[in-house]
Amino acid sequence: MSEIDAQKTSSAREQFLSAKNGLLKHLVGLEPLVDRLLIALLSKGHILIEGPPGVAKTRTIKLFSQALDVSFVRIQATPDLLPADITGTDIYQQQSGEFTFLPGPLFNNIILVDEVNRAPPKVQSALLEAMGEHQISTGGITRKLDEPFLVAATQNPIEHEGTYPLPEAQLDRFMFFVNIELPNVEHERQILDQVLSEQSGDEDKTFSAQTCDKNTVIAARQEVAGVFLSEAVRDYIVRIVGATRGYGAGGIHTENISQPASPRASINIAIAAQAAAWLDGRDHVDPNDIASLAPEILCGRISLDYKARAKGLTNRSIIQDIIRATPRV
Ligand SMILES: Nc1ncnc2c1ncn2[C@@H]1O[C@H](COP(=O)(O)OP(=O)(O)OP(=O)(O)O)[C@@H](O)[C@H]1O
Ligand SMILES: [Mg+2]
Repeated sequence: MSEIDAQKTSSAREQFLSAKNGLLKHLVGLEPLVDRLLIALLSKGHILIEGPPGVAKTRTIKLFSQALDVSFVRIQATPDLLPADITGTDIYQQQSGEFTFLPGPLFNNIILVDEVNRAPPKVQSALLEAMGEHQISTGGITRKLDEPFLVAATQNPIEHEGTYPLPEAQLDRFMFFVNIELPNVEHERQILDQVLSEQSGDEDKTFSAQTCDKNTVIAARQEVAGVFLSEAVRDYIVRIVGATRGYGAGGIHTENISQPASPRASINIAIAAQAAAWLDGRDHVDPNDIASLAPEILCGRISLDYKARAKGLTNRSIIQDIIRATPRV
């Protein structure tokens, strides 16, 4: 690597780290979520966040887009939403007698879709297609979405009334499935202090310093793609994913897995691990990256049979057991 390249490397990474530190000043106890967002951004991934109301899901995504200086939009999913409400629509122009395309909210960089499971299936499928292809086709014309394009969708794990569960077959358009829990007492106190001082005007609520722009993201992605994945690490990924299909020493509980993980899971683990290693300042992925990222990548990609639930097993617990049982070398 030339000296100029080395300088570029450190500056893109330094900008990412400074964005992260800025975010953590405003988000108590949410470092794992911020890390997942940065990794998803670096690897063209999307993120599904589950959690109860009021745990700063909206605040995190809003601040994240401010830290990146990219466009942000929030879509509240409701049962009467139409696909054109998110993709855009052709509008008839009386003067010219022609139709012109009015882009919908998906033509932004960071898209927060709140309560995604309240959107009807056609809207979900338009969203998931855009997430997979990074483009939108309407009226026979395909339009590319601007990069970076990151969808962060939320859903409440408890409330099911009036919801349309996301189609299992398309859930793997998301890279990460993150669960946010209620804060502990110590964090709750810090949150309270922070919000009160923001309200009294002592602390700036918004992200004042812009630390990362689009070009930095694009440059960083190129560096991430160059992070080394050894044969041994590749084998380890395939062993974990294969274990969900019953192969190898890690294949426990597989009699309860009705739908195992697909190759898209392996690919997502590999590219997320490259991004995590890059953020950590390494030029290679190590097995710890895989073991720590795999649970939140795999847990939304497998389905269990009813016997598993009767035994008290969950997607998360099964994946954790598989990772514990899978040899690293
Ligand atoms: N970990 C946290 N760090 C900082 N602020 C927090 C944290 N948790 C909650 N808050 C504060 O709680 C309030 C609710 O946050 P927010 O609206 O982002 O929650 P939400 O998860 O999006 O809720 P909902 O599901 O109802 O949309 C905000 O004022 C936010 O500042
Ligand atoms: Mg919210």
